[in-house]
Amino acid sequence: MNINDVVSLEKLSSTALICLNNPPVNAASQALRSGLKQAVEEADADPEIKVIALYGEGRTFVAGADIKEFGKPPLEPMLPELVNEIEASDTPIISVLHGTALGGGLEIALGTHARVALPDLKVGLPEINLGLLPGAGGTQRTPRLIGIPAALEMILSGRHVPAEEALALGLIDRIVEGKPRDVALKAAQDVLNGELTTRRTDQITTKADHAHLDEVEAKLQATKAHLFSPHKCVEAVRASTLPLDEGLRVERQAFLECMQTPQRAGLIHAFFGERAVSNVPEAKHTPKPYDRIGVIGGGTMGSGIATACLLSGLSVTLVETSQEALDRGLGTIAKNLDGAEKRGKLSTDKRAAVDAALSSALSLDALAEADLVIEAVFEDMAVKKEIFQSLDKICKSDAILASNTSYLDINDIAAVTSRPENVLGLHFFSPAHVMRLLEVVIGDKTADSVSATGFALAKRLKKVAVKSGVCDGFIGNRILAHYRKTAAYLVLDGASPAQVDQALEKFGFAMGPHKVGDLAGLDIDWMTRRRKAETRAPEERYSGAIADQICENGWLGRKTGKGYYLYEGKSITPNPEVAEIIDAQRQKDGISPRHFTDKEIVDCYMCAMISEAVRVLEDKIAARPLDIDMVLLFGYGFPRHRGGPLHYADTIGIETLIDRIETYATEDNFYWQVPDLLRTMAKENKTFADLNR
Ligand code: 3HC
Repeated sequence: MNINDVVSLEKLSSTALICLNNPPVNAASQALRSGLKQAVEEADADPEIKVIALYGEGRTFVAGADIKEFGKPPLEPMLPELVNEIEASDTPIISVLHGTALGGGLEIALGTHARVALPDLKVGLPEINLGLLPGAGGTQRTPRLIGIPAALEMILSGRHVPAEEALALGLIDRIVEGKPRDVALKAAQDVLNGELTTRRTDQITTKADHAHLDEVEAKLQATKAHLFSPHKCVEAVRASTLPLDEGLRVERQAFLECMQTPQRAGLIHAFFGERAVSNVPEAKHTPKPYDRIGVIGGGTMGSGIATACLLSGLSVTLVETSQEALDRGLGTIAKNLDGAEKRGKLSTDKRAAVDAALSSALSLDALAEADLVIEAVFEDMAVKKEIFQSLDKICKSDAILASNTSYLDINDIAAVTSRPENVLGLHFFSPAHVMRLLEVVIGDKTADSVSATGFALAKRLKKVAVKSGVCDGFIGNRILAHYRKTAAYLVLDGASPAQVDQALEKFGFAMGPHKVGDLAGLDIDWMTRRRKAETRAPEERYSGAIADQICENGWLGRKTGKGYYLYEGKSITPNPEVAEIIDAQRQKDGISPRHFTDKEIVDCYMCAMISEAVRVLEDKIAARPLDIDMVLLFGYGFPRHRGGPLHYADTIGIETLIDRIETYATEDNFYWQVPDLLRTMAKENKTFADLNR
């Protein structure tokens, strides 16, 4: 009998089966909670029913609370009370878990009196990834079952624990093969026969372990002081030695505090943004085949792209111009694959097949049968055009020709071929087998099926694909080129490179811009500055004077042991000679250095990033604010808990942003200009979240 649209109850003599069916992931929405509550109450009240079994329909048991409900007024029944009610049921209730039992899903299972898993099951408490903590008893019942250290590890990592491990930990009671409903029926029978023991989790006491909790909290203070929820997780788990109702009160309070934070909103924006980016019309077309990939160029980028493709089971032909370069490329790929094997991303028994899927050649002729060729040679338009002209002659007529260029015009590249509809940009980020972002750059003539292939490839490579239009630098590098100048202006005007880096690292960036420059190699920006020198507007304040001198000294960053910082073994210290260059440049420009607070640095840097991001939107290079947010999150180390620059912009407010830009413009009204779209948004009282809808 259907309790409602998503829950049904079936009575078979003394067994009641409750089926949860809320596709795609059986999220514990209000409908699921109220249906489950009603079903449990009805089964428990029936004197004929001696055992109740819960299972999920579709691909998974409950994958968590319904995240879409977060940040909105709470809807009854609440999950914690429902789990308590399940636990308190006089009739034994067991849960049968398949697919995933995550967050609130696992918490429902922990409230039942025994847990039976199918072999494919993964359990986890991933709330921390959303800026939350398990808020329906997870911080109290998990330590009761598996102890404080293991529970804390699960809660703080948010990782998915496979069934075998969950069994060994004591989180589940047995693993059985079969279909969820069949397994549920059999397990219910076993309860009746006394072959499956049931027990209430709240009747187990947690063994205190304050030393471990203190140690973990100290580590968090050192590494994650800026995040809110990890500390609250420890606080809640600490309360698990109290009677359950008291511990649950501590957990509830901590959960509600987390719910109020902007970090929670930022992380949930990132969760949905990651999934929404590929929800664009182009991605919905049927992709072309892309099983046989050609990669041109065995440098870091080409080798990384080849590695990513190989790890996803695609076959790759790597082409280089000399045996030496080819050997180097193949060596890099082998090293990347070794690393993947070590990290468990590639199983040892699959290694031979992956190696066999890689071939190499010294001539483009080897790409005659490739479905998709990705060119990853250095950034020189003449070279790229020559390669594309050759590919056009060599490759089969329907093959896709892609360039990994980071800023060159895809339309110009496409124009030298007889098949511009089969040409697109696939902009990977280095190291390409690790970084998750892929900009799918769609040219004027790119066919929809070709764009769709870019998205399909990204999905296969487990990357986050963002649609981009054509402009210098596409979405990410265009915005980067702009805000990077702000860091240089701040240094010219009085901040030190290390201060700028520290302020932004405190804000949440993994590395400040000067450390990033040193890591990437300062010659990259140097080349770009020279490339753009001729087109630089005379009114533009030159931002490269200091960096140019650093490069002229041959200090190109980490690879030369010297850049903005000095690199000796593991020690990184500011380069004192750079301070001299900065002083001299300020004197030359007649600048008397001023003091900047960290807040001033962050405000200025973020304002620059947001301004250019808005212009990228205005120019329709990015389709929606969220696309820009995901580019910065997945390609540029933007702190995930801040959601992305335009999500963050909403937290500042459009009026405040305009005020700030206008204030900065009093000193430099060429660089600082209020984008028209911001003014329109202010007039219409719109947020970036509104533009995403
Ligand atoms: N609530 C609402 N929608 C959800 C959801 C959830 N918990 N989990 C997934 N979805 C949606 C996705 O947004 C996506 O929607 P779309 O098709 O419209 O884009 C759809 O379900 C399918 O999700 P995926 O594309 O992610 O599917 P995958 O098969 O790749 O992954 C998954 C499945 C591993 C379950 C993954 O979706 C996931 O990790 N989900 C989140 C799990 C989670 O964080 N659970 C904890 C929630 S917080 C909580 O429970 C609080 C509690 O303690 C009180």
